[in-house]
Amino acid sequence: MLICKPSDIKPSDITPQNIFHRRREIIKAAGLGAIMLANGGFSPAAFAAEIVHKPKIPGFRKTSHGGGEKLTSYEDITTYNNFYEFGTSKENPAANSALFKPSPWSITVEGEVGKPGKIALEELLKLAPLEERIYRMRCVEGWSMVIPWVGLPLSALIKWAKPTGNAKFIEFISAADPNTMPGVRAPLLDWPYLEGLRMDEAMNPLTILAVGLYGEQLQNQNGAPVRLVVPWKYGFKGGKSLVRIRFVEKMPQTTWMRAGPTEYGFYANVNPEVEHPRWSQATERRIGSGLFSRRLPTQMFNGYSEQVGQLYSGMDLRKHF
Ligand code: MTE
Repeated sequence: MLICKPSDIKPSDITPQNIFHRRREIIKAAGLGAIMLANGGFSPAAFAAEIVHKPKIPGFRKTSHGGGEKLTSYEDITTYNNFYEFGTSKENPAANSALFKPSPWSITVEGEVGKPGKIALEELLKLAPLEERIYRMRCVEGWSMVIPWVGLPLSALIKWAKPTGNAKFIEFISAADPNTMPGVRAPLLDWPYLEGLRMDEAMNPLTILAVGLYGEQLQNQNGAPVRLVVPWKYGFKGGKSLVRIRFVEKMPQTTWMRAGPTEYGFYANVNPEVEHPRWSQATERRIGSGLFSRRLPTQMFNGYSEQVGQLYSGMDLRKHF
């Protein structure tokens, strides 16, 4: 992002710093130093102690989405995050989000809709069956993960809201509570974090509201209790901890467009042929694949061309980046 650098400089294939420091403390406290040394300094058990798992989500169904690719580990998905409301470095969200309260929760639906109002999370979860969707996720910074999300199609909420004929875009607005989100107290970005989709992108079956991963409720650092996931776009399109969605006629100015209009466009489709002004987007580092592993070629629309390519037919994707 504006403040961060491409992933080559700081791959999470090395243990995030805070976890590393805490791990050393745990090891010392447990008197395991000698064993760890004999093990080459690595113990999966020492990692496991760091993650407090969330309650399991009952009764979601598996789908044909994803499969075939090695999943990124739960530890990497939950400790290597971008969530500027909790700080700008990758380890900040896991370390700084304990005070954030994802329950009770509701989303306010407003703008060009026949049914404005609030929907409680419990009601949202009844709009469509929860499904597991294994998606490749590509960050604009050049790293990627494969994440088994649990969620429901965004289209279910859109249908509930009954958009009017004027609703051409949707704005997604994240929580911005300075009491529990320390990053919001600094003018890092224009708060609240705002993202947007064109209506046909929002209605596409690949677009989901995620409420869990690895079959468990979301951790705060991943956007609890509900966040947007749009797998053919760079990760910053996936607004976290959504409190409000607004149906509008004009294309919204998103947070990142305001912060860096020449670097972050509205569409933000994964496109190996359109470079970021400061680095190439042709390849990516898969988190967890090892420090010395080769970068992978990035695929057009992150490999989801068949499902979404037609949304952009006739558009100049260099101009509409
Ligand atoms: N949503 C909010 N509210 N604030 C953020 O800083 N960061 C975005 C996106 N959603 C962000 C956000 C970016 S840059 C990325 S890459 C993804 O969240 C990261 O999601 P993850 O940490 O669950 O992998």
